[in-house]
Amino acid sequence: MASFEDISKEIEANQTKFIQRLRDAVEIPSISAEEAHREDVCKMINWAQELFESLGVKCEQKPNGTQTLPDGKTIQLPPILFGQLGSDPNKKTLLVYGHLDVQPAAKSDGWNTDPFQLIEKDDKLFGRGSTDDKGPVIAWANAIETMQKLKVTIPVNIKFVFEGMEESGSEGLDEVLTANKDFLSDVSFTCISDNYWLGKKKPCLTYGLRGISYYTIEVSGVSQDLHSGVYGGAIYEPMNDLIWVMSKLTTVHGQINIPGLDKLVAPVTDEELKTYETIDFDHDDFRADVNAPKLLKSTKHELLMNRWRFPSLSLHGIEGAFAGPGAKTVIPSKVIGKFSIRTVPNMEPKAVDELVLKYLNDIWAERGSPNKFKPISLQGGRPWVADHDHPNFAAGKRAIEKVFGVAPDMTREGGSIPVTLTFQELTGQNVMLLPIGSCNDMAHSQNEKIDVANYINGTKVLAAYLLELAA
Ligand code: BES
Ligand code: MN
Ligand code: MN
Repeated sequence: MASFEDISKEIEANQTKFIQRLRDAVEIPSISAEEAHREDVCKMINWAQELFESLGVKCEQKPNGTQTLPDGKTIQLPPILFGQLGSDPNKKTLLVYGHLDVQPAAKSDGWNTDPFQLIEKDDKLFGRGSTDDKGPVIAWANAIETMQKLKVTIPVNIKFVFEGMEESGSEGLDEVLTANKDFLSDVSFTCISDNYWLGKKKPCLTYGLRGISYYTIEVSGVSQDLHSGVYGGAIYEPMNDLIWVMSKLTTVHGQINIPGLDKLVAPVTDEELKTYETIDFDHDDFRADVNAPKLLKSTKHELLMNRWRFPSLSLHGIEGAFAGPGAKTVIPSKVIGKFSIRTVPNMEPKAVDELVLKYLNDIWAERGSPNKFKPISLQGGRPWVADHDHPNFAAGKRAIEKVFGVAPDMTREGGSIPVTLTFQELTGQNVMLLPIGSCNDMAHSQNEKIDVANYINGTKVLAAYLLELAA
């Protein structure tokens, strides 16, 4: 049988082909947040089905429900792609999850190149979805294809769940999975490659994610936008109210002002504190990467804990506010403020919603404005932590050692993948995150990329992991 060395060489020899695959995928603008791109999300799911079917994966698209847009219109959610490779009762079954949708992107946002064309430059592959999450999904296909080509027996059955709504809160996915519990009944472990290394050189395995609770606050006053020269000084302005409310959510040092929220957070243990000491992470590099003048915390462990295991509150935008260039002297009649809280164990979404809505209503009362105020909580995602003292993580660790010659750091993450806890609950088995991209891949941002080396070595790690799962 071919050795792992042979697999590695074969993956390297197919670099051009694998990059072309990613190029084809990036060219489909599968933006889940935009109704106009819903067809592209479906096209992307068909594309993935074709790719995995070419490897002998039995695929089925499970219909999802409908989505109600903010304007009340209802549209179809994209289907969930289920796949299965092998059904040997003597083998264990691995579940692989990934998402095929991407964040919105436009060249005018400040991209150096067209976000939906894959550009190879300086050994990096630029394009929306290159690292989040098309690259990692395709890396699974590349790994399997290579093993099949070299006639290497894959020692586990593999099941796949690929969705097209992750970037919009994975709408409908929990329901589809719950309705198809049977599909998950024989799963022994789950692996998700949809996050990033902590730094640029050292790989990691991830055992925790924050959840997210998302809110909008609508303030409305008059029936249409008005001239500030004519109505300024006459009316209660909605945007002034909104900004005042939003400014009361956090302190300058990022502390959340919502009473009771900190009491929901699981306490830090001494044992946990120790784990931060050995992690390879440089506070100042992290700061310099984004050119921040100063960070909220000055030590490595405080900063990591603030990113991974304490909640944070971010303001995201104001719908209806004038945002164009130039000086427009308008009074917006209705504005919608948006913010979210990254949540951690043991913050239950319902308990968080109650505290947030109570606080918003309390400060609104304090404001004393006659305008209309409507706070709303949108669908979010739950936080997740796993036990990393587990054979699944041990296999991931050996796979990384095989490819990189170093043991990975064990990390948590500040971002969210809503379905993670659902898989852990529905299968009753361990879930591991195995990232292949680097910390500076700029997911969601301008000039998202994945390094060629990460894409290729990541493909090797996934192949190694499949072999190690049975070792
Ligand atoms: N791949 C990310 C999740 C992620 C981000 C993990 C950063 C670790 C670090 C995922 O695609 C994502 O962006 N999730 C959204 C979920 C939300 C829309 C419910 C997020 O975290 O904002
Ligand atoms: Mn992702
Ligand atoms: Mn994302």
